[in-house]
Amino acid sequence: MKLTLVNKKGSPESLLAEAAKDIPPSGIRKFFDIVYSTPDCISLGVGEPDFVTPWRISDTGIFAIKDGYTHYTPNRGLLQLRNLITTAIERQHGVSYSPEEEIVITMGVSQGLDIALRSIVNPGDEVIIIEPCYVSYEANIRLIGGVVVAIPTFAGENFRIDINRLKKAVTSKTKAILLNYPSNPTGSSIDSDTMAAIARIAIENNLIVFSDEIYSSIIYENEHRSIISLPGMKERTVYLNGFSKSHAMTGWRLGYVAGPQYLIDVLLKIHQYTALCAPSISQYAAIEAMQNADREVAHMRAEYTKRRNYIVSRFNEAGLPCLSPQGAFYVFPDVSPTGLHSEEFAMKLLKEQKVAVVPGGVFGACGTNHIRCSFANSMENIRTAMKRIDKFVKSL
Ligand SMILES: Cc1ncc(COP(=O)(O)O)c(C=O)c1O
Repeated sequence: MKLTLVNKKGSPESLLAEAAKDIPPSGIRKFFDIVYSTPDCISLGVGEPDFVTPWRISDTGIFAIKDGYTHYTPNRGLLQLRNLITTAIERQHGVSYSPEEEIVITMGVSQGLDIALRSIVNPGDEVIIIEPCYVSYEANIRLIGGVVVAIPTFAGENFRIDINRLKKAVTSKTKAILLNYPSNPTGSSIDSDTMAAIARIAIENNLIVFSDEIYSSIIYENEHRSIISLPGMKERTVYLNGFSKSHAMTGWRLGYVAGPQYLIDVLLKIHQYTALCAPSISQYAAIEAMQNADREVAHMRAEYTKRRNYIVSRFNEAGLPCLSPQGAFYVFPDVSPTGLHSEEFAMKLLKEQKVAVVPGGVFGACGTNHIRCSFANSMENIRTAMKRIDKFVKSL
């Protein structure tokens, strides 16, 4: 007998989760579809090192595969790696974390931040982000039902956080503040007064701070400081870092979270049930990265410094005001003197001169007059791109 099944409840599509459905697709995807189909295009759009992973690190990964270290590791990650990480944090920031209780190795900062947010944020809780900021933050918060409260910062104020604006944004629903210094996309760092003021706000209002310090090793003039080093802040900060940018290891998917035990206990449960552990091969490679690759990291930093100096001066000469980034590998020049909106600027530049840059609005509304250009590209490509940009600006 043939059964006819009748669906009276709506389409399968209607079953999609609201939060996931409501997240807008990445604002730059359409744009990059054009980039990939444009021959001879130079992309200053990519947010990853152009260097290959230092060979000694890759070689260790290959050894790990050959020697059969291809199984699950402890959920928290290899103890040797956790030991190296806590030693490095203590040396750099004077804060001690227990390798047994207060560190979890994750699949990049991306996964670390996701499970950190899920450990803290209930639906309806507010999380303050500082715009312009990394494109994933808003989606990460919204996917778990959190409410994003964005504080704008401006080039005219050196992208410094206005503390009064921040204070006003704190409500009874605020759970956390998410920081990222050095910043993607502005390259700005945070000064000690601002950091101290944020710590005060966090303590007075019982807030958590998520501190994404993924660019901490790509820092130019000043030393990198972390909010964890301020009194009372280790207890309420989730420190996030990783190997993607520092060691040109984006594809290895490895990062780590450090935090107080009460928080890591909860975070670890989410990690256990959703990921088990970070990739074993990458963890072995990261041990080599932590033990023996400081010279390679310094070499990359020196290269970025040369490129930064060049690209900043070329943008300013072209009449597009550009602050010199204190860290990371991005510049965020102001394109408003051209009279074009940044999306129009980016699209025309791509079509007429075959240079891809990211319109600043994707990092938050306050970025709309800007474009983000990554100088994680060869000096030769940067020179050619800047010649083309100069020609484009003159043609307007
Ligand atoms: C600020 C920031 N955080 C996190 C990430 C992602 O890092 P990971 O590769 O460790 O997941 C990026 C990547 O561009 C980033 O710019």
